[in-house]
Amino acid sequence: MTTIDPKIIVALDTSDPVQAMEFSDRVSPELCKLKVGKELFTSAGPQLVESLVKRGFDVFLDLKFHDIPNTVKKAVYAASQLGIWMVNVHASGGEAMLSAAREGIDMAGNRRPFLIAVTILTSLSDNDMQQLGINRSVSEQVEKLAQISFDNGLDGLVCSAHEAGLLRDKFGLSPLLVTPGIRPEGSSVDDQQRIMTPQQAMLEGSSYLVIGRPITRHSDPAQALSDINQTLV
Ligand code: C5P
Repeated sequence: MTTIDPKIIVALDTSDPVQAMEFSDRVSPELCKLKVGKELFTSAGPQLVESLVKRGFDVFLDLKFHDIPNTVKKAVYAASQLGIWMVNVHASGGEAMLSAAREGIDMAGNRRPFLIAVTILTSLSDNDMQQLGINRSVSEQVEKLAQISFDNGLDGLVCSAHEAGLLRDKFGLSPLLVTPGIRPEGSSVDDQQRIMTPQQAMLEGSSYLVIGRPITRHSDPAQALSDINQTLV
């Protein structure tokens, strides 16, 4: 773990461990944290995660666990043994699963990573809620799942920066709010729908910003990262 706390979490969205390690050579743990998701973890496994941790990076293991409580408790504990900084689960796994996840994390003692929840995937709309038989809007359901998450000891949420202000009003300053969908001024929107600049997202109440392609696909990733960090000071 680093002693300073960079706000940018770079999403290593690749299946190639060599590419991921090469990227980590070009940046440093003082400038960013790194996110390993399902694609990279499925192809490269825990060793890749441990290698990044060994290089001093705070790693967010974005595997969005969602299973029966005992399985999630053990998965979260196993994740914590990799030395990661943060891990996540789906809030819709319910109270018993969320509190089991918290127990799994606590079993790691002082190696305990942060445990955060995904509420409703931002790819889902109000229409999808109806199709799933949930008679609430996405934002009502996000609020409900956020409450259940905090009641069961989770440290924070993955959410859109557009929801961060409302969540701060409702739940105060302590939850960690980790927000993807971030685009620096002038960079390509790619497939993101509701974007926000890094600076705006922090003002809305984000704790950490997940940023992928504007940094990883840049011709000079270290420069792109440093430029974004400059906008946050
Ligand atoms: O390249 P880009 O900055 O769009 O990458 C964003 C990262 O955040 C990706 O890893 C993506 O899976 C993740 N993410 C997202 N939107 C969400 C949740 C996660 O873009 N609602």
